[in-house]
Amino acid sequence: MPKIIVSGRGGSGKSTMAALLAKALEERGKVLVIDTDESNLGLGRMLGQEPPAMTLMGFLGGKSAVRDKLLASMQQEKKEKLSFFRDNLTLENLPAECVSWHGPVGVLRIGKIEHSMEGCACPMGSITRSLLNELQVSENEWAIVDTEAGVEHFGRGILEGADIVLMVADPSYESVLLTEKARELAGEANKKFIVVINKLDENTGPVLRQELTGRGIEIGAALNYSADVNQANLTGNPVDINVLREDVGGIIDKLAG
Ligand SMILES: Nc1ncnc2c1ncn2[C@@H]1O[C@H](COP(=O)(O)OP(=O)(O)OP(=O)(O)O)[C@@H](O)[C@H]1O
Ligand SMILES: [Mg+2]
Repeated sequence: MPKIIVSGRGGSGKSTMAALLAKALEERGKVLVIDTDESNLGLGRMLGQEPPAMTLMGFLGGKSAVRDKLLASMQQEKKEKLSFFRDNLTLENLPAECVSWHGPVGVLRIGKIEHSMEGCACPMGSITRSLLNELQVSENEWAIVDTEAGVEHFGRGILEGADIVLMVADPSYESVLLTEKARELAGEANKKFIVVINKLDENTGPVLRQELTGRGIEIGAALNYSADVNQANLTGNPVDINVLREDVGGIIDKLAG
């Protein structure tokens, strides 16, 4: 079953999308939501879940320990793939401290920026890459990866272990340009690329469709603007899948197709 990278420009709705997908998929199996955003903190609240006790980076000894391992692997004469995990990593045997489960939905955080001047986020990228390469996701299980804004994660190689890039495009010119770029990058990595247009209303929806299709970009599915979802995100309450259930169902059909 797929490991899905949710990409898009800042504020396009990646985290909302990840939360809605998880809520819809929980009826069909087990879902791990992987929070790779080093800055934003609210994904757990969108799902109505407490964050896990530890980040994966904390579990692995902290940023400097991970950085040391990364540097050592770069200096190896005979390069081996950098691994942070034991063999046969599954949703069941992930470190318990790092996943907050609520029924069939688990949230895992890779790592967050915690201190001023703490250095770049490369260690987070290498943990994510290793996790996605090694995590085995079986029938009726999904891994949904919420990313930071933009295309930095494409450069970090986290696509390697993923199956699908789900690109969230909101009605903005920046989203149109970024979707074009992301299609190219996903193509280079040989990954399935699905565009979901988000926050549509009757005025912006047709224009966004035209801008994308005019560039030869196929639109996979659409998520309408919902004042309820926006209100929930303003107050830190869980997003209600019922208000967009039909739209999210269309996205899941596309992911399965
Ligand atoms: N379908 C929707 N209907 C209404 N509002 C939406 C919808 N999708 C997202 N939003 C709103 O857009 C804003 C950004 O959403 P979200 O945090 O999910 O984006 P993001 O892409 O994860 O942002 P970031 O790049 O900061 O991680 C929020 O205020 C959210 O409520
Ligand atoms: Mg986000």
